[in-house]
Amino acid sequence: MTIKMTLVLNTLESGDCSEQIKALFADKNEEIEIINTADLKIMHCMGCNNCWLKTPGVCSIKDDYEIILKKMVAAENFWVVADTKFGFIDYRGKRVLDRIVPMLNMYIEIRDGWERHQLRYHPLNFGFIYKGNGNRELLEEWSMRVARNLAGRSLGVISLDQNGSCENTAEMPSDSAAAPIKTAAPAADEHVIIINGSPRVKKNSNTNKIVHAFAEGLEKAGITHKLYSLSNHAEWDEAREAFMTNDNIIIAVPLFVECLPSLLLEFLSTLPTERKQPAKLSFILHGGFDEGHQLRLGEKFLQSLPAQLGCTSGGVLVKGGSFLLRNRENSYIKKMTDKILASYTTMGQSFARNGSFSSSEAKKFTGFEKNPKIGILLFNLIFKRIVKKNFERIAQEWGCSEPLDAKPY
Ligand SMILES: Cc1cc2nc3c(=O)[nH]c(=O)nc-3n(C[C@H](O)[C@H](O)[C@H](O)COP(=O)(O)O)c2cc1C
Repeated sequence: MTIKMTLVLNTLESGDCSEQIKALFADKNEEIEIINTADLKIMHCMGCNNCWLKTPGVCSIKDDYEIILKKMVAAENFWVVADTKFGFIDYRGKRVLDRIVPMLNMYIEIRDGWERHQLRYHPLNFGFIYKGNGNRELLEEWSMRVARNLAGRSLGVISLDQNGSCENTAEMPSDSAAAPIKTAAPAADEHVIIINGSPRVKKNSNTNKIVHAFAEGLEKAGITHKLYSLSNHAEWDEAREAFMTNDNIIIAVPLFVECLPSLLLEFLSTLPTERKQPAKLSFILHGGFDEGHQLRLGEKFLQSLPAQLGCTSGGVLVKGGSFLLRNRENSYIKKMTDKILASYTTMGQSFARNGSFSSSEAKKFTGFEKNPKIGILLFNLIFKRIVKKNFERIAQEWGCSEPLDAKPY
């Protein structure tokens, strides 16, 4: 199959700026297909992992995204057009990217020194076109990271507002990264609100396991907590109310396509930005891959959020390697994951002592930033095959009858 097509997903409401977008591609000698996603029904990725382990390459959510996946398989260049919120891509734009996971498969390899999932099809170049007040530096780095995940190159970042007619409707300045302020340690009778920002149902959510381990540490220090899980839409109103009326809030969130899941971005965009009383907002950010540098763009974005939500910053706790937490039946993996979870309990105690994640122990908690050369060598020689076999065993248990690198489209 020839793959020369350029696919453009316009996620702006009611397909805004269509003429301007067409004009951007008018002089390109490429086959262009522009799709207005406002005309389609597209839901948030719920992190079920079925597209990797049960029905390889096929998403379980039966909405209009399959149309897009099929187009992607025929494309060479992929652009997303989106509005911005908090200086970053808004939830509608991020939603179409979080659903891109079936384009990769579950197997892990090291590409350019980074842990990556293997491509299911071919490399895809990625570019981003935005409306509103985006933080250009953040968006450029994010686009580059997305392109690298797809083994393609970044096609660049274009602002529609700088190109003319599209009206700028974003209300927030984008580069208000707030350094964590020195906060007093919480009093022993303090209460903390914890919001699990993962779209994955609570019983399967690694964030849920992390939060429980962390809260055990808080409890040891006499701090109570109340947990809200955004995967359950019925909890959103209460979570919003708790966010607006409490003064110590922690959002725990998994990395999804290099930053926050679209579901959490949607929740955040429904919060009022004016608060009646000040609050401290802290984050626990974790991701599947082990290396700290995989999480740094997400961390940068989170550092900018408290000021934009009228809060002070309690810092960001950053840790990779949470893939393992989901499947704990193997005794060796269980031992490893118990250790990971115990370290979160220790961090709960540390947060209780320091009142933030800006302590040196929180910084050390991330672990190694990049895989050392010896780690890469050992991965390629030994662990890659063990990890592959482990994924294949899980897939079999999930009733998968296809090879994990199947190409359904
Ligand atoms: C759609 C999607 C995108 C993901 N993107 C990344 C990523 O960019 N980097 C990473 O390290 N892990 C990524 N992960 C892995 C999750 O961060 C990891 O599995 C985490 O433990 C999930 O937590 P949860 O079970 O609470 O959702 C992604 C997972 C999903 C489902």
